[in-house]
Amino acid sequence: MKLFFICGFIFYINQISECTQEENITESAEVVAENNTIRNNEDIQEITTFQIPDEKWVAEAVRDIAYYLRHYKFNEWDRRYYSKKPKDELIGFYNNFPVPSLRTLHWKVYENCKNNFFKCLVYLHNVIESSPMSREDDTAVIINENIIPMNESLLQNIDNECHKSVSNAENSGLPFDGPIEKFQWGTTASYYMCWYTMLELPAMSMIGELCDNYASCLDPTFRHQNKDPRADDRVPFACATYSFCPDPCCPKRHIKDFMECYKNKENPCLIENLDGDSSEKACVVHRSENQNFRDIVTNRWNVSCHCNETGFKWVSEFGLCVDINECVTGEHNCDKTTQDCWNLPGSFKCICRWGYGLDKEQKYCTKKTILYKETKFDFTEHYFNLKDYIQRIFNYFNM
Ligand SMILES: *[C@@H]1O[C@H](CO)[C@@H](O)[C@H](O)[C@H]1NC(C)=O
Ligand SMILES: *[C@@H]1O[C@H](CO)[C@@H](O)[C@H](O)[C@H]1NC(C)=O
Ligand SMILES: *[C@@H]1O[C@H](CO)[C@@H](O)[C@H](O)[C@H]1NC(C)=O
Ligand SMILES: *[C@@H]1O[C@H](CO)[C@@H](O)[C@H](O)[C@H]1NC(C)=O
Ligand SMILES: *[C@@H]1O[C@H](CO)[C@@H](O)[C@H](O)[C@H]1NC(C)=O
Repeated sequence: MKLFFICGFIFYINQISECTQEENITESAEVVAENNTIRNNEDIQEITTFQIPDEKWVAEAVRDIAYYLRHYKFNEWDRRYYSKKPKDELIGFYNNFPVPSLRTLHWKVYENCKNNFFKCLVYLHNVIESSPMSREDDTAVIINENIIPMNESLLQNIDNECHKSVSNAENSGLPFDGPIEKFQWGTTASYYMCWYTMLELPAMSMIGELCDNYASCLDPTFRHQNKDPRADDRVPFACATYSFCPDPCCPKRHIKDFMECYKNKENPCLIENLDGDSSEKACVVHRSENQNFRDIVTNRWNVSCHCNETGFKWVSEFGLCVDINECVTGEHNCDKTTQDCWNLPGSFKCICRWGYGLDKEQKYCTKKTILYKETKFDFTEHYFNLKDYIQRIFNYFNM
């Protein structure tokens, strides 16, 4: 009876997780087409045939695209809901990709990016080149490149020009056919560039310049460098991730150090390790576990968290540490012929099979003739463990 209750309950939990997973939008995230019209069509050539560009061009293009999409990530907002600039909290997609995800991907981006990275770069770069805003004219880039000697008045002029071109791009929406298309384009382009980063394409490994800026001229607080450790270009794929992807571990616009992430209440690993030290609170995105395009689009990120209790492992889908079923995973050491494996929260137990009983030293199960004395399995003890486990889940769902 008790067992029956438990099974029903776990079924119930499964139902809940199913519910939280399924959103209507997910279905239609399966990319489809609308005909988007990018203006200045004579500038943006159709890519019918193309040669794989050389490495130098690729590096340069990735830098430009990273700049442009970083601007998008930190300064754009959801144009489906806000036509005018909303309050600061609603600006930027550094915590997740727009929610709900796009119903339809930008047709041209989709066509060019879905199965060829280089074709994607050529296309994205072509579009970006016809934007009034460009990486070479950004104050932060000019300072970082350190080409001309700077003084305050020169800096002021450069920054004024930079702001002018940024607001020009913003107001005109160029080269897009209005803000909605711009939003759809930027979102779709970020989806793909993030996906290529997760796939670890070599060109994404190092960007080759400082990318710890918001790509919108001098920032009033951070100036040309915000010194965010997540944007450290010496770490493979860090700059690309910072520019193209949201951060499911640390959904903050800016951090000074990783400690700030770990303590952040939005850190998904925090709930399991409230009293843990910083290494136990750490949350990591492994690229190898996040390569499904559809799931990237819908923000179903897999992160890795430490589990406080042994015998449990983190499952991002549930946002919980769940019991490892050693009996299924084969991590048990029960004797195949004489014992059955019994999964328990955090562990497992080997019990003697029907017709077998523990021998005198209580080490092995041996064939028994007197059946009624066979079992040493203390059900009460395990029942209480299970109760704790259920309580944990209750607490989690606030039931
Ligand atoms: C989700 O789908 C259901 C059934 O298809 C529909 O009734 C409901 O309005 C949809 N919700 C949203 C937010 O689109
Ligand atoms: C979309 O573009 C395709 C090919 O360019 C064209 O055949 C189709 O008629 C267009 N559809 C609309 C609704 O404009
Ligand atoms: C600042 O630098 C520019 C160009 O290097 C120069 O033309 C200008 O005279 C300088 N201004 C001051 C105040 O030093
Ligand atoms: C681990 O879990 C136990 C019981 O659930 C709790 O008492 C303990 O504080 C937790 N430890 C950490 C480091 O969160
Ligand atoms: C996360 O892991 C699950 C299970 O392995 C997988 O189905 C899903 O596609 C992964 N998410 C991403 C973004 O790749």
